[in-house]
Amino acid sequence: MYCGKCGNKIPDDARFCNLCGAPVEEDPDDLFTPSGYGKPKKKAGWLIPLAFVLAVLAAAAVVLLLFYSKPELRCKVFGHKWVEPTCTERGYCSVCGERGEDKIPHDYGKNGKCKVCGKQSAKKIKEKKPVQDADVPATVEPEAHEPKVGIALPTKDLQRWANDGERMADELSIAGFDTELAFASNDIYTQIAQIDNLIDSGCDVIIVAAIDGSSLSEPLSRARDNGIAVIAYDRLIFDTDALTYYVTFDNYMVGTVQARYIVEALDLENNPGPFNIEITTGDPADSNVRYFYDGAMDVLKPYIDEGKLNVMSDQWTIEEVCTPAWSTDEAEHRAADIIKTYYKNADIDAWLCSNDSTALGVENALAENYAGSYPVITGQDCDILNVKNIISGRQSMSVFKDTRILASQAVKMAGQIIRGIDVDVNDTITYNNGVKTVPSFLCECVWADADNYKDLLIDSGYYTEDMLIR
Ligand code: BGC
Repeated sequence: MYCGKCGNKIPDDARFCNLCGAPVEEDPDDLFTPSGYGKPKKKAGWLIPLAFVLAVLAAAAVVLLLFYSKPELRCKVFGHKWVEPTCTERGYCSVCGERGEDKIPHDYGKNGKCKVCGKQSAKKIKEKKPVQDADVPATVEPEAHEPKVGIALPTKDLQRWANDGERMADELSIAGFDTELAFASNDIYTQIAQIDNLIDSGCDVIIVAAIDGSSLSEPLSRARDNGIAVIAYDRLIFDTDALTYYVTFDNYMVGTVQARYIVEALDLENNPGPFNIEITTGDPADSNVRYFYDGAMDVLKPYIDEGKLNVMSDQWTIEEVCTPAWSTDEAEHRAADIIKTYYKNADIDAWLCSNDSTALGVENALAENYAGSYPVITGQDCDILNVKNIISGRQSMSVFKDTRILASQAVKMAGQIIRGIDVDVNDTITYNNGVKTVPSFLCECVWADADNYKDLLIDSGYYTEDMLIR
């Protein structure tokens, strides 16, 4: 051992240094080593921080391991790859669009802005000092918004549009989007003003069922200039390059389905006839009317030319058989005139009506003015009143366009546009709007009549039995 004062080597059992006389310390750790003479001896204390650092490194390794070995999330439906939630969007399936429950919290930085989406925290906004000088406007940054989808529909007076609107709005908010729904009472100028409002309210996508497919070029150009995508819903919009997509039922098919029903009901293939038929279609401003009419006439015209079908009123061009605003009253007035003029002493065998609101008008006119055998009457939409008439025998069929399918498809399209992923379309050739061929998704339709309405409408949950009781 060595003296702690002078460094002299002394016997291990000495109590004083034999050179300088200094007493020997009790704790050997307090003694100096020859090599470290004059300096404190290194203590074993460095082991503690080292152990601490090692522990931290080990913990970090475990966390990293856990993170990277986290099982990949998959969608519950088909096991597709799952896109993780962010602060603005819930997680979702990259393939079938299924959505998870929650978003994750915003990651606010020191400036109170979320580092991911830029949203300003409400707390930070409150903290901003009031502006002293009245001429200097407050500079509170606007809140970053949820993606927003606007919906502009023709009217809520017709059951189908009310259903479409409600369904889309519900599905959009379940999908995590802000939503604004506007009905225009079938007034073109109201619809233009509503689209302008939707643009100003910060929509990312606007879904439009046009009242007049040729009057929306201006508002749609504004939408395009503001980076807003526009989806034409059910009805095509013409003369604009600002229309992004079109989602609809196959409108030509609607017409062919109605006409084929008449061909089968009258057994036109085998029965020589002749049979009397009248035709009522819809609003000439509605782009669909041409498709409904063409689809039906492509099936019926050969029988008219052959003389098996006879149009007593001689009104069969689209201009002659249209109904402004698809109005039930207008359809009734025209039908009553035809019945009183041509069918006092003759039977009407079939009345092709392009939709349910016009079919109702024809049924009312027949009830008031007609005594002959009851005709085959077609319709479209399966509105409740018309399904009741199908059950009671006053209408033969209605084309069932399941609005659940159309609404979901439109919502899916809006989501795909907002997320910037491929948008599902299944027709890129049919719908040219005069400026471009609009990529479209066409849904299929079927007919409902007294024989199959229970399967189609009740068992599928579209209506309850109670809703169809007279
Ligand atoms: C729709 C029909 C609807 C009609 C009247 C058409 O454009 O496709 O389903 O009955 O408008 O609103």
